[in-house]
Amino acid sequence: MSRTFSIIKPDATKRNLTGSINKKIEESNLKIIAQKRIKLSKDQAQGFYAVHKEKSFFNELIEYMTSAPVVVQVLEGENAVNLYRELMGSTNPKDAKVGTIRNEFAIDIQENSVHGSDSDENAKIEIDYFFNNEEIVG
Ligand code: CMP
Repeated sequence: MSRTFSIIKPDATKRNLTGSINKKIEESNLKIIAQKRIKLSKDQAQGFYAVHKEKSFFNELIEYMTSAPVVVQVLEGENAVNLYRELMGSTNPKDAKVGTIRNEFAIDIQENSVHGSDSDENAKIEIDYFFNNEEIVG
């Protein structure tokens, strides 16, 4: 068993898609072991996406991620990072396979409905960024 970190992003929370996305997560053998709906501050969003700070889309990304509530989650399952990346589909929904979350729900490459960690190492860092141990009850 391993863990990954997920964000249900503003475009999805605004369109009332939290339940639909969680249904797909649970149906794919991932267990939601922690979850909270929060409004990211600018500092929180900039810190979380610090790796992208030189990118042309950085400012727009921060505006978007702070524009409405998000749902941050810890998901557990076998090979959770890769399982969730498969379920999310490609960053750009135009390239996302049928049946993936981004294929079904994403609007465009920025408003792409969900985030998922890209490695076990980053999953731990990202989980620790939003959750303390008492909040992860399994
Ligand atoms: P995420 O997986 O959360 O990682 C970085 C985010 O930046 C990405 O999903 C998108 O929301 C956004 N993003 C990535 N590439 C682009 C792009 N070319 N233009 C605008 N936003 C992007």
